[in-house]
Amino acid sequence: MLMVDLIKKKRDGQELSTEEINFIIEGYVKGEIPDYQVSALMMAIFYQGMNDRETVDLTMAMMNSGDVLDLSKIEGVKVDKHSTGGVGDKTSLVLTPMVASLGIPVAKMSGRGLGHTGGTIDKLESFEGFSTSISTDKFFENVNNNKISIMGQTANLAPADKLLYALRDVTATVDNMSLIASSIMSKKLAAGADAIVLDVKSGSGAFMKNDTDAKALAEKMVSIGNMAGRKTRAVISDMDQPLGFAVGNALEVVEAINTLKGQGPDDLLELCLTLGSQMVILAGLCDDEDTARKMLLETIESGKALDKLATFIESQGGNKEDVYNTENLFRATICYELLSETDGYVKGIECEEVGMASLLLGGGRRSKTDEIDLWTGIILNKKVGDKVEKGECIAKLYANDNAKLEQAKTRLFDAYSFSSDPVNKNVLIKEIIK
Ligand code: URA
Repeated sequence: MLMVDLIKKKRDGQELSTEEINFIIEGYVKGEIPDYQVSALMMAIFYQGMNDRETVDLTMAMMNSGDVLDLSKIEGVKVDKHSTGGVGDKTSLVLTPMVASLGIPVAKMSGRGLGHTGGTIDKLESFEGFSTSISTDKFFENVNNNKISIMGQTANLAPADKLLYALRDVTATVDNMSLIASSIMSKKLAAGADAIVLDVKSGSGAFMKNDTDAKALAEKMVSIGNMAGRKTRAVISDMDQPLGFAVGNALEVVEAINTLKGQGPDDLLELCLTLGSQMVILAGLCDDEDTARKMLLETIESGKALDKLATFIESQGGNKEDVYNTENLFRATICYELLSETDGYVKGIECEEVGMASLLLGGGRRSKTDEIDLWTGIILNKKVGDKVEKGECIAKLYANDNAKLEQAKTRLFDAYSFSSDPVNKNVLIKEIIK
């Protein structure tokens, strides 16, 4: 088989067979097929798409490209959660300690930022010394002892996805339904959880820009998960504006901590309760959403979830005091206030542009090997539907470099649109697919 023939086949809109998909994934992981040919194939898939059979084959080939974890050493029903990626999406940082403090084992594998979206691992690295590069033995030990551990995608877990994820990030081939579904589901299946709750984002900051596509992606992933014998549910949630107020790694960590202290943004808390109640139900702790939400809220009110986060940070090398006193997490040297030039209401926020503004400040990667600046980012003061007055601060940008700030502030300003008439707030939870 020749890779160039397979690129041509997909470029011309034909189906790839199971053997061809296996050949591509095996060859890429072994280093026999170079990045440039796989980039060309990704672009062909981006334009021509893949059918359900090809998507399942790609998922299975990526899952089988490395180890498939056996979590049977961990007691209880293991529930994983994954988001399709958004801007300001720090849900995992809030949700995982809440769920773990109810005794549900959280054995989670997370990723880094992708394109304009952030990643849980980058965010967690804001805690000095914290590492997600831990052995699977340490991962099991932490889950058994503390009910929570988050590990990075080890070299051996869905290595094909690890390679493709980094390649797609810098070749503008992320936002394709089959590529996203196979990327997420291959590593979720390889990570071995009994049940999976997916947060499928829809809107201008998501890879799926409208509810129809988000629903199709959600259904595709739920069907792959259930087919593989894992109870899988998906929540479709709004990403037509950032979640919460903070965008940028350490700034998001602080907002997550504030939420666990009962002082977080309403939308972030609501999403955590919605996703969390599905996790609690799948773990078998109760049957209905109302009871699950009450159980989750109690973890915040009692301080148990905050303590669980501190234990988790310490167990993976971080300083747990940073959870109780977040001063150490503010390290940007420049703070710039973006002011409104008009009276009225915020009509919309081009959410991907907010992500790009944060990336320009240093919070995301332009190429595979870029180091990111964990301390930069944006705090939105105004969100969709909010009233604004001329001269009022709509957002603060935190930077460490004036040239980067200049680029980011224009991009952020242009992301906002205003109306003289009142504007309805966005609906956060759109649908739950079971
Ligand atoms: N998250 C993933 O893990 N993979 C994608 O392709 C997109 C979001």
